[in-house]
Parts: sequence; C-alpha cells; structure tokens
Amino acid sequence: MDVVIVPDAAAVAEHAAETIADVVRSRRGAVLGVATGSSPLGTYAALAERVRGGGLDLTGVSAFALDEYVGLDPRHPESYRSVIRRTVTEPLGLDPERVHVPDGVAPDLEAACVDYERRIADAGGVDLQLLGIGANGHIGFNEPTSSFASRTRIKTLAPRTRADNARFFASEDEVPIHCVTQGLGTILDARELLLVAQGEEKAEAVAAMVEGPLASMCPASALQLHRRATVVIDRAAASRLSLTAYYEYVQEHRPKVKVSA
Ligand code: F6R
Repeated sequence: MDVVIVPDAAAVAEHAAETIADVVRSRRGAVLGVATGSSPLGTYAALAERVRGGGLDLTGVSAFALDEYVGLDPRHPESYRSVIRRTVTEPLGLDPERVHVPDGVAPDLEAACVDYERRIADAGGVDLQLLGIGANGHIGFNEPTSSFASRTRIKTLAPRTRADNARFFASEDEVPIHCVTQGLGTILDARELLLVAQGEEKAEAVAAMVEGPLASMCPASALQLHRRATVVIDRAAASRLSLTAYYEYVQEHRPKVKVSA
C-alpha cells in the first residue's frame, strides 16, 4: 500500500485529483468508481476546476457509484443518485447516461444488485476506484465483519454509520437502515484503488486499515490485498500511524520507475 501524507485537506484533494486526471488522460473512455460522503468533495472540486480550465476532458468517461440507500426516493436530495449528479456528473461534465448508481428502490433489489455487477463488467471493469473510509473502518457501506469476497448486495447500516450520516438529514431517524453497496470483492476488482481521508476522527480507522491486521472487523484493511492501492491522508488522519517517518521517507525517495505496492 502506498501511503501519502500531505499537510492538509486541500493537498489531499489536489493529489487525488491529479491521480484521477492521469488515469483519465491515459485511457480513453476510462471507468471511474466514485464515492459519496464528505471525503471526496474536495477531489471532485479540484477535478471540476481542471475541467473548467480546459486541462481535463471527461468526455466518454463512465462512473459507477459505490452505494445507495434502500427505500429513499431517488429524487431526495440526499439519495446518492442526487448527490452523485450534484457533486460529480454535473460539475465534471459527465454524460449522465454513463453514470451509474445502484438502484435502492428496485422492486427486486437482489436482481438489481446482480444487474449492477453485470453493468460494471460490461463497461470493462473499474480503472480507478475512489474511496472514503468510515470512522468504523467501512468502505462503501461494507460494515465491520463484511466478507472480503462480498459482491454488490443489500446491507444493514451500522448504528455508528447512521449517526455519522445524520448530518445530511433532518434527524438520525430519517437515515435509512438499509443500503445497497458494492462488495469488498467488487471493490478489490478495480484495477487501482485510491482512498482519501482527512481529519482526526478518521485517524483510528486509517491506522487499522494501514497497519492493523487484515481483518473483516476493519473492512478497509482489504486494501492490503490490492496490488495498486494508494491512501492519501492529511496529518490529522495520519496521527495514529506508527510508521509515519517511513512513509514520508518512501515518498521522498520514490523510484523513477512506477512500482506497485
Ligand atoms: C460513500 C461511502 C462511504 C464513505 C464513508 C466516509 O459512498 O462509500 O464509505 O466514504 O462513510 O464518509 P465521509 O466521507 O462523509 O466521512
């Protein structure tokens, strides 16, 4: 795993945006995996700035969201369909036809999950998956004890996650209890993973992901299994790591050739 520690949230956004821009420039019709939540917002804004400035063109790029609430009207401003349209599709100028979000209101949810996996496969798989991390170590909505082999499926949100996401709703009671999320196996199939985290409240989860054991109690530790996983964090999110000096040393002495984790 490549651990990149930068001074602040703005630097996280710049570093992540440049990594994504590299993928978009190097592969015509690239397929991006996109996350919702607060963590990637700066990255999307930094990408949008590049698009507006003419330095990046996302024509032909497809995107697949990680997850969606079950039973929330897709027109609700906090449905991930709405959030992705507002924060990704529109500012980046993506073709809405190429932006996919799991269906949380399908009459047959299980069939919709299977269909979502098929759509990802039909697009040729995800080139780069952008991720945030929950304070409990989840990625997507794969809560602690999720299987490393899991695929897109219905999950029950942990009480901690509902409490954390209550800030997007009028009250915690309004946060749906169920979700549809790509599985850890689905996420690990992406050709490259890029996780961004900022702030002290993520420090414990980040330490468990990077330096803890591979354990389903910290679903993000699944990144340890991936050959090309990069974690971009600010100093606060890095504050519980024990090998900080080593990660900084590695960044200062990057080999000239591109190496995988
Ligand atoms: C959202 C998602 C979640 C979030 C995580 C962190 O699509 O997959 O795993 O990335 O809950 O959320 P924030 O960034 O709001 O702290």
